[in-house]
Amino acid sequence: MSPGPPAPHEQPIGVFDSGVGGLTVLEALRRALPERDFLYFGDTARVPYGSKPPELVRRFAWEISGFLLRQGAGALVVACNTASSVALADLHRLGVPVFDVIEPAVAAAAPYEHVGVIGTRATIASGAYQRRLRDSGKRVWSRPTPLFVPIVEEGLWGDEVAELVARHYLEGAPADLEALILGCTHYPYLKPLLARLRPGLELIDSATPTAAAVAGALSGHGGGRTTYFVSGDPEAFAALAGRLGVNVNEVRKVELGEL
Ligand code: DGL
Repeated sequence: MSPGPPAPHEQPIGVFDSGVGGLTVLEALRRALPERDFLYFGDTARVPYGSKPPELVRRFAWEISGFLLRQGAGALVVACNTASSVALADLHRLGVPVFDVIEPAVAAAAPYEHVGVIGTRATIASGAYQRRLRDSGKRVWSRPTPLFVPIVEEGLWGDEVAELVARHYLEGAPADLEALILGCTHYPYLKPLLARLRPGLELIDSATPTAAAVAGALSGHGGGRTTYFVSGDPEAFAALAGRLGVNVNEVRKVELGEL
């Protein structure tokens, strides 16, 4: 007799982003749930998402989610703010637990009164953060900062080009801003730079609060393994992940036609 499909608490958790950004969330998830298995999908053939129309990002999120479920995922973490801000309602129809990265970051900003948020054009245009923050009585400053995504994907987070771009983007940030939400999962790799440019500003990212939310809802176990899938070049992905401190052994290339 065949063993049948694994029980929900043994199924891997599917995590996806347009590229390496979601690794910030994946790493926090692996720390919070060291015994679970994870499937990570980086849509590196189609990055960036943030400059694309919402309906296209919605389609990408739907395709990737379907792929991850076919690979055996029993829950999904949308480790991308752009997809979280435009595609969540669709994904909740899939019948598995779906976690986003926006609610946990907003919750982490609770102690602050004047809060900034930076993200991709699509995330900022959706108003997903600004609405939630204003609804909880905060003063809000926001700015799209799209160039940060290719800077990270090109491995330039420590380069002077990153500093020039960051100075440009932070120029208009009010002096009395207390906290800044990094509303894109690529941005935590720029934290040391941003902290140097704006000492004293609390930098909030989604990784740890999202992992805490997932760990609170899903217990369970597996083998503590992670399988990586990318739509672009697997070697380039593994090399970049390595530079970001993530040891990626095996990366499977997925043709867009398989999605
Ligand atoms: N890391 C993603 C986000 O959190 C997507 C960035 C992009 O592809 O533009 O929004």
